[in-house]
Amino acid sequence: MVEPPIEPPIEVRTARLVLRFARTGDGPALHEAIAVPLNEFFPWLSFSAKLSDVETLENVSQRAETAILAGEFYVWRVWDSNGLMIGSIDVHTINRAVPSCHIGYWLRSDRTGLGYAQEFVTAAIDVAFDCLKVERIEVRCDERNVRSWRLAERLGFSLEGVARNSDRDAASVLSSEKVNAILRVNRRGG
Ligand SMILES: CC(C)(COP(=O)(O)OP(=O)(O)OC[C@H]1O[C@@H](n2cnc3c(N)ncnc32)[C@H](O)[C@@H]1OP(=O)(O)O)[C@@H](O)C(=O)NCCC(=O)NCCS
Repeated sequence: MVEPPIEPPIEVRTARLVLRFARTGDGPALHEAIAVPLNEFFPWLSFSAKLSDVETLENVSQRAETAILAGEFYVWRVWDSNGLMIGSIDVHTINRAVPSCHIGYWLRSDRTGLGYAQEFVTAAIDVAFDCLKVERIEVRCDERNVRSWRLAERLGFSLEGVARNSDRDAASVLSSEKVNAILRVNRRGG
């Protein structure tokens, strides 16, 4: 029997972090967290060149708030105990018929190597399984994005293949993505 989904929480607390739904007013913190290092450190992210100023990022925040309310996708900005935005995690491409979803994430470039991403992505995986009742969570990352696919591996995702020439990077060059997924049955140990 398919269990009915429940609304994902506005806020999730982990050992060191708070995940809070993206909302209007996040623009300046988002700008401070990503706009400067993004192009330099994350050349494979196709959207990176577009996120350059506070106004754009405030519009992104407003649109995210509206989409979350409509249940189209879910984005939590991630805050540390000092109130610094350190990352973001989103659940998107939700197919309610399966049900299944994809996740995406980023971490401030000056907070890598501390296990923060593992901590907040784990929390989002729990929400996807426990609230959205998904059977499958997929994460796609550029095959050059070693940190991302290593994180997926650590979290129990399995590599299903490489989608060749499936995206374009920040410089509009064709790129290939590793397709990783974790299944509800894997999580139960089945
Ligand atoms: C992908 C990304 C989130 C990975 O970040 P990350 O810092 O490598 O991942 P974590 O925060 O989980 O940290 C893991 C590292 O912290 C170490 N670590 C330290 N303390 C830890 C703890 N308490 N728990 C777990 N790991 C810990 C781990 O050993 C690991 O070290 P390593 O880098 O030497 O292997 C980050 O590189 C990023 O934002 N990239 C740009 C955006 C992007 O590419 N997003 C994905 C698109 S598909």
